[in-house]
Amino acid sequence: MKKAAIIGCGMIANAAHIPAYRHLPKDFEVVAVCDLNEGKAKETAERHGIALYYSSASKMLIEQKPDLVSVCVPNMFHGEYIRMALESGADVLCEKPLSTSYKEAKELYELAEKNGRVLCACQSMRFTPDRLGAKALIDKGELGEIYYGEFSRLRRRGIPTWGAFHIEKISGGGAFVDIGVHMLDAMVWLMGNPRVVSVSGTKSANIAHGGYRSAGSEASGALTGDTFSEKVYSEEDFDVEDFASGSILLEGGKRINFKTAWAVNLPDETSITVVGDKKSVRLPEFELYDAAETENGNAEGYANPYPDEAFAGHFRLLDNIADYYNGKSELMVKPQETLNVCAMIDLFYRSAKEGREVRIEEIN
Ligand SMILES: NC(=O)c1ccc[n+]([C@@H]2O[C@H](COP(=O)([O-])OP(=O)(O)OC[C@H]3O[C@@H](n4cnc5c(N)ncnc54)[C@H](O)[C@@H]3O)[C@@H](O)[C@H]2O)c1
Repeated sequence: MKKAAIIGCGMIANAAHIPAYRHLPKDFEVVAVCDLNEGKAKETAERHGIALYYSSASKMLIEQKPDLVSVCVPNMFHGEYIRMALESGADVLCEKPLSTSYKEAKELYELAEKNGRVLCACQSMRFTPDRLGAKALIDKGELGEIYYGEFSRLRRRGIPTWGAFHIEKISGGGAFVDIGVHMLDAMVWLMGNPRVVSVSGTKSANIAHGGYRSAGSEASGALTGDTFSEKVYSEEDFDVEDFASGSILLEGGKRINFKTAWAVNLPDETSITVVGDKKSVRLPEFELYDAAETENGNAEGYANPYPDEAFAGHFRLLDNIADYYNGKSELMVKPQETLNVCAMIDLFYRSAKEGREVRIEEIN
């Protein structure tokens, strides 16, 4: 039995992490929660019947000595709490994006290695039946050599209206690091993690500043509604991107093209295309193409075991972590994949800011 603790008692801790730990009572006990805002820590502890709550993470780590800590604070505070938890001797499951800085991500993984600890990014969106099914085909070599990938993750009107996702100094970016990162992670994983060479990207905020009207918190990703966090969104404070697009050059001359939006005048879309020299696959349809045939992939063995959970991916990720602790499985989200994704994020924002292609040597 591992002792788990939570840092950051907002939407994702309450709606995803705590329920997912609670689903595995033989593997995890959530011993304490913590939030700078003591009221939120207390409310969360009471809501879930957790004995202890703190407003100081260091005090919680010293007193409770958890084995595994979920870092669920806004993006720009991930690093300080990952460090604190690793140095206290805990493993860490950190919400995405683990870091928007490649340098910081490398330092954090080095610290984890030095301390013999696990540091895992909460990339919870790999676990859909179509993506798992496609990955199995790719690993069997059925698509042949993968040389191109493409993803679109578009919300027509879905800027998060809770928390501070719209403020750069708290979130480090907008749509790209919030919803794009899930697709980028899945794309890199499906393609077998070829290392990034360079990124050329652009970002903009054309809808957010035009009298934006939200389609509601659920359409913005708070799948259980506004139950757990304050609504603090204001158009005047919005200084991140509502739309991002770009092109990522990978080793071996492979490429990923993408677009992602919190708000755009296009239909909602969540699609991934992986192109191989034997076959290509389009998700979520799970259609496979070769020279002449179009066939449907079979995702039967990969059905979602948590169809009633809003955040089923978190349940599956914690299943994987429990299996890892029990010696039954490797960790599915690997450091080298997350480091590659963090490098792409860092390169994307530099490229968008400077209006040019930025290469990995410039940040390495
Ligand atoms: N994997 C997913 O599908 C998914 C979905 C939503 C959010 N997230 C990620 O989870 C993280 C949190 O998002 P959320 O929606 O829960 O946000 P939120 O605003 O609802 O919650 C954040 C909580 O952190 C607390 N906090 C802020 N600064 C802090 C600090 N310095 N120290 C301690 N506590 C602090 C706030 O009081 C708040 O309770 C973000 O990194 C976000 O990207 C992931």
